[in-house]
Amino acid sequence: CPSSVKKQLAELFRESLKATVPSEPDVVPLVEACVANKNGVKHADYQCNNAMSLFPIIKEKQPEFRNPRSLGEGIAKNLPPSEMVESCFVAGSGYVNIVLSKKWIAQSLQKMLTSGIHSWAPRLPVKRILVDFSSPNIAKEMHVGHLRSTIIGDTIARMLEFCQPECLIRRNHIGDWGTQFGIIRTGGNINECDIGDLQEFYKTSKSKYDSDPDFKTKARQSVVKLQRGDPKYREAWHKICEVSRAEYNKVYRRLGVHLEEKPESFYNPYIPPTLKKLEKLGLIEDSDGARVIFVEGVDRPLIARKSDGGYNYFSTDLASLWYRLNIEKIDWNIYVTDVGQWQHFDMLFKAFRRAGCRDGSINVGWLPKDANEYPICTHVGFGLVCGDDGKRFRSRSSETVRLVDLLDEAKSRCKDTLLERDNAKGWTEEEIDKTAEAIGYGAVKYADLKINRSTNYTFSFDQMLNDKGNTAVYLLYAHARICSIIEKSGKDIEELKKNGSLVLDHKDECTLALHLLQFTEVFVESCSNLLPNKLCEYLYDLAEIFTKKFYSNCQVVGSPEETSRLLLCEATLTVMRQCFYLLGIEPVDKL
Ligand code: ARG
Repeated sequence: CPSSVKKQLAELFRESLKATVPSEPDVVPLVEACVANKNGVKHADYQCNNAMSLFPIIKEKQPEFRNPRSLGEGIAKNLPPSEMVESCFVAGSGYVNIVLSKKWIAQSLQKMLTSGIHSWAPRLPVKRILVDFSSPNIAKEMHVGHLRSTIIGDTIARMLEFCQPECLIRRNHIGDWGTQFGIIRTGGNINECDIGDLQEFYKTSKSKYDSDPDFKTKARQSVVKLQRGDPKYREAWHKICEVSRAEYNKVYRRLGVHLEEKPESFYNPYIPPTLKKLEKLGLIEDSDGARVIFVEGVDRPLIARKSDGGYNYFSTDLASLWYRLNIEKIDWNIYVTDVGQWQHFDMLFKAFRRAGCRDGSINVGWLPKDANEYPICTHVGFGLVCGDDGKRFRSRSSETVRLVDLLDEAKSRCKDTLLERDNAKGWTEEEIDKTAEAIGYGAVKYADLKINRSTNYTFSFDQMLNDKGNTAVYLLYAHARICSIIEKSGKDIEELKKNGSLVLDHKDECTLALHLLQFTEVFVESCSNLLPNKLCEYLYDLAEIFTKKFYSNCQVVGSPEETSRLLLCEATLTVMRQCFYLLGIEPVDKL
């Protein structure tokens, strides 16, 4: 199983700590990569920071250590010899510094070049993963919040897939079973209409629903009729779903996202048996005719069935989680929605935990009491999408922004820029179109992914399409530049991978190589917190190091170090492409 530099060093320090402080056999090695200071100076590559916190614990038992620094020296002395380490020395009040061997770094990169980037993928302790994302609601517009869910969810799925679990499901939990059907149905007859009309129709009907109590009752009754299987209502419902689905698929196709659909309606037959099981476990109570479940730490209960007998968002999520745990045997269930739904999922998971552990006995098929034990459920929340004005994102002309329009605009802006450039003069129409799509859609995705998902995100075409800042455009340029260096050399890279050797000498070559080698540890961090922004940061740094350091100071083509430097370029391309793939961005070879 491949392991990151950090983890390999931690293993060495574990040995050394055991030998140095035998009375503390369980101490966890604290190893960190070093970052350069303000002046860009870095004295070591990694650092072990245990001495300072360990010293007060052991000073009585081991008086030979007079202070943290002398303990640090002990740890450094006991470090087992390894080909990874060039030198090890103590600094300040007891930091044990490591400088990695350049030869080892070079060999590790070369190994990756021959065995492929997959040899750097960590393994996960879970077998079956489900990522519930995108999940728009029929008839209502697929809004920018769903765009965020689609982009973040797909990236998370790609990241986890890279670790090769036994099974990974991208689940589209389409909201096709709720009030909006009743609203539309009661609003009038729906015949052939595209989603635009359907949304208009929904909007007018929704205002009637909000203002007219009779309309509201009728709408609610239609939902109950639909849920009970009335054929007339089913037919109308089918039509609405088809129209909506066609529209979603347009967005998915453009974004290169493939979801497997199991809409809310799928779980309808599973709701009554799930509620019965919960009832048997004594979780369900009556509250004014509604069936409810109380959970720890929340004063209002979760409504499992409404007083009119209808099912709601909660009912379906109870049944769908039951289905995922028991039929699909999922060990890690991930839900990607806006942070506003935090409490919904908190209550859902708590109800399942209550069911899983009743009166001290463990019931399988629900969730374990300890939230960190498998099967695990995680809610991945994200913030609002705002416009330049800091308010909720809207288009100039209307309340909402149609996703297709947004993607169209990103593409057409990129196309305009390309057409102005001399470089693209000889390109075919198709080349221009494909490149504009790659940059435009890539820019929309990257702008969203690069910020910590839990914060609000400001949507701005001008910012995301800037070719100088931290944008997909800048990154794609860096990628194209490396492609052109390799092309200009006229060398056969596959041949070089077999027979050439990578040697690190110049300090900028070393910086680039070490950053490449740190891919795995950044990836692991990004994966374990489900934070794609960490990966974006890494990719941006990679492009910066390549462009501003390596490329500016190390001549590649025509230099005596050409072979080695071409291999370093190829390693950079490989890691960059993997990052692009994980972020769902299509790389372009020329720009
Ligand atoms: N349809 C919901 C929405 O638009 C998201 C569904 C998320 N998944 C779930 N199992 N509840 O907000």
